[in-house]
Amino acid sequence: MSDVEGLKREAGITACSFVRSGMKLGLGTGSTVKYTIIEIGRMISEEGMDVVGVPTSESTRELAESLGIPLMSISEAESLDLTIDGADEFDPNFSLIKGGGGALTREKEVALISDSMIVVADDRKKVPVLGKFDLPIEVDQELWSEVSEAIRLSSGVESTLRGGGESPYVTDNGGFILDCKFGPTIVDPANLEAQILSIGGVVQVGLFVDLCDAVVMSTESGVEVIINPVGRLP
Ligand code: 5RP
Repeated sequence: MSDVEGLKREAGITACSFVRSGMKLGLGTGSTVKYTIIEIGRMISEEGMDVVGVPTSESTRELAESLGIPLMSISEAESLDLTIDGADEFDPNFSLIKGGGGALTREKEVALISDSMIVVADDRKKVPVLGKFDLPIEVDQELWSEVSEAIRLSSGVESTLRGGGESPYVTDNGGFILDCKFGPTIVDPANLEAQILSIGGVVQVGLFVDLCDAVVMSTESGVEVIINPVGRLP
């Protein structure tokens, strides 16, 4: 296992200390939270842990099913005790960029109905200001070029269609993804999120504000649990 993979695994597994029997859990998407899901599967089969998961993508659903984790859909769940998910960046205010794996819309739906959200990440994801990672925006297939142009006109920011015009990446919801090159300039993510959501054709934007309650961050010297002082965890 490479160093980076080892860090992801440590963060993913450590986050399971927040999981309690009886919980309804949002299960995120990505290469870090994959280790959380594998550990939850182990806790169910070896320790008799009793939890139900709501997957945020088809890939997570397949993984969770293969591990015997009981699942329900977002609409069946109505509310969740805890969501554990990865992130592409997090800032000092616990705002996030997500969507590198293309699952941002369901990830946000799940985060919004959760009592709390924990992010699992390695320390490469910690940034002073969001935006070095291209901001993913899910858009209607038919309107991607109009949205791209609207973002260029309103923010002066260029975007690329994920996968390219010949074979665009299609999300689990049937949308396309625009990756927007804001650069490390996103000092007011809530305002930018509202601005982008008001553009016709935008399905969801990969900015998560006031949703993350803690980051379980692995570093070369160990795992740090960084609790959001104004978050919802006790
Ligand atoms: C998927 C996501 C992922 O959580 C994010 O891309 C981080 O993934 P990884 O842990 O593989 O770096 O937002 O839409």
